[in-house]
Parts: sequence; structure tokens; C-alpha cells
Amino acid sequence: MSSLLVDNIGELVTNVPAAGGDGPLGLRRGVALLVEAGRVVWIGPARYAPAADRRIDAEGGAVLPGFVDSHAHLVFAGDRAAEFAARMAGEPYTGGGIRTTVGATRAASDDDLRDTVHRLRDEAMRQGTTTMEIKSGYGLTVADEARSLRIAAEVTAETTFLGAHVVPAEYAGRPDDYVGLVCGPMLTAAAPYARWVDVFCERGAFDADHTRAILTVGQAAGLGLRLHANQLGPGPGVRLGVELGAASVDHCTHLSDADVDALAGSATTTDPTVATLLPGAEFSTRSPYPDARRLLDAGVTVALATDCNPGSSYTSSMPFCVTLAVREMRMTPAEAVWAATAGGAQALRRTDVGVLRPGVRADLMILDAPSHLHLAYRPGVPLVRQVLHNGVPQCRL
Ligand code: NIG
Ligand code: FE
Repeated sequence: MSSLLVDNIGELVTNVPAAGGDGPLGLRRGVALLVEAGRVVWIGPARYAPAADRRIDAEGGAVLPGFVDSHAHLVFAGDRAAEFAARMAGEPYTGGGIRTTVGATRAASDDDLRDTVHRLRDEAMRQGTTTMEIKSGYGLTVADEARSLRIAAEVTAETTFLGAHVVPAEYAGRPDDYVGLVCGPMLTAAAPYARWVDVFCERGAFDADHTRAILTVGQAAGLGLRLHANQLGPGPGVRLGVELGAASVDHCTHLSDADVDALAGSATTTDPTVATLLPGAEFSTRSPYPDARRLLDAGVTVALATDCNPGSSYTSSMPFCVTLAVREMRMTPAEAVWAATAGGAQALRRTDVGVLRPGVRADLMILDAPSHLHLAYRPGVPLVRQVLHNGVPQCRL
């Protein structure tokens, strides 16, 4: 069996403080890491490193777990650059443009959609992302939601059925009928390709009753729960997500004290509901950022993700999200790096990614920088030099 040693590591972010490293990131220095059969099999002092078939010299760069991007919408066609330009000229974001992308996505061929998914997945990988959740939600017919998920499942196990993204034009004024479709034939067609079910719970999209109905039948079909909640204004989404045991409630931009209390209460349970913050969306819609400090100080588990989509956040870059979180959301660099790696893994209820210890997947990145601090300290600079995915180097990126 071929083995691979990563050595000359400037700083290893393990996210496993119990293993003896410094601080919440479990930082270790002077260590090497051995990979076999796609897994990390050994981490220890470099001078005791076992012999290996191959070696990667990290050249003093920091090594981190690969980013876990737990929220992305990659299955779409077309773009909405003009909508972005209009926003930068003062137009508000309402989510109304979702229907534009639905039209383009329905008209696209499977191969066109596949090309976009692969292009964005590769783009994300070059920036350190090794696990990516991908949602449907721009098809909104039985056939188009099923094919969106089938294509997403070609590149990730973390697929999410978002038939309840908006009520499509042909169901205008008949939301109950559309929710019936989502809960019935659409769920049946989507479930074989999906791990999760998600709902855009927001004024103008789906209300609390619709959201509860969709999540409840999705759960009965074996899917885990996640939610778009409290993005454009206050609402019931966050508390509903906690009540139903969602793995994550995402956006969390407009929170009441009761929302924060519910999330904090859940953080002490065995299956907490993670608050996933998506600062790319606030950046690209020129909206106020969520109050990460308030959540962290209350003890809530926080994740960061890109929300990559052609409307509200057309970025695949987790380093960009880390930078925004540090500069604009008062997260420390350590908190932001944890949220983008271990936090994302918790939002997907995964224990085999987002951390580096023996037994986990060998998903990691090597930086052209000596410490994780540089991810925020050097904004916009492509610092990811190498990525290992399942132990396989993705070459010079
Ligand atoms: O997470 N909020 C709903 N869905 C996406 C936006 C989709 C779009 O504008 O196309 C989001 O921001
Ligand atoms: Fe989203």
C-alpha cells in the first residue's frame, strides 16, 4: 500500500485540541503527517516520521484540514451579473431573480449543468475546499429537481433537495398546490439522490406551516434537515429548525434574542443545530452582516460557507468568506478558520472531515504561508499551494 508523508510543516491546524495542540485549533508545530489509503494514519514529531513511499515538502507552509463548504447552489445555468450591477447601483436584493435562473436551468442540457457543477467544484478545490454540499432548487419541476440532484451526486455525497426554494411562476397564487407537489412526487423523485432536505423559509418564499410540512415529510423519507432562515428579515425559521432538529440553520442574519437562545440551548445537546453564516451573500447583496460575535458569545456552534449561487453570492472561495468573517463579523482568525473547517463538518454531521487526526479522510491544504492567520491577513491572495483530497494531491493548483 502506497504511503505519503507530508513534512516540513510550519504549523498544523488539527482542530483537535484534546490531542495536545495549542488553542481551539489544536495547533501543532514540528510535526509530520502520514497518509495511507486516503486516510491520515499518523501525526507525530517529524523526527520520528515513519518511512514512506512518497513525500510532500510543505516548505514551512501551514497545513489545515480542507475547507468544508456546507452550503452551495451549483446546479444552475446562466448568470445574473446585470442583477448584481443593479444592486451595486442601489437596487435591493429580494430573491426575485431566483426565477430567472430557474428558467435558464430548465432550458439547459444535462451536460451544460454538469460542466458548471464541475467547473465550480474544481474552482473551489483550488481554494482549499475538499467537501462541498450542493443543493438543487433551480429546477422546481419533478424532473428538473431529480436531474439537478443526480448531477450533484456525481461530485458529492452531500446533496440537498431544495424544491422549496421559491414557488415557481406556474404555481403563482397556489403555494399550497406547489407544497403538495414538493411533499409528494418531487420528494419521491429527489430522495434517491439526496442526503438532506432544505426550505427557503422567508417572507415571499415559504412560511412556517409550509416549512414544517416539507421538513417533516423529508425527514420521514430519511433525509436530514437544513434550512435557509432569517436571511432577509426576522422570522420563524431558526426556531423551527432547532425544534425539528435540523443539522444547520443558514444565513441567520436577522436574529431575535429567542432565536439566539434556541441555538445556544441546542449547542449543548448531542446533535446541535449549527448556525451557518454566509457572508458572501451579505457582501454581494450589500446587506448588513450577521452578528457572529453575538452567536459565539452565547455559545452557539458557528459554521461559515460560501452560498455559491449566481444570484446572491457568486463566489466559491472559502478564504474570501474567512476574510469577511474576520474583518466584518468580528470573528477572530482562529474562530473563522474553525468555522470554515470543523464548523462546516458539524453542519453536515460529519466526523471524518474538518479535522486532522489518525483515522479521518486525508483532506487537507498546504498554504504558501506559515500560519492560518495569513488567510485573513492576506486578503484576496491565492495562498493555497496544494490540496490533498482523499489523500490524492490535486497537483500544482
Ligand atoms: O441562499 N436565499 C435563497 N437562496 C439563495 C439565493 C438564490 C438566488 O438569488 O439565486 C441564497 O442566498
Ligand atoms: Fe443558499
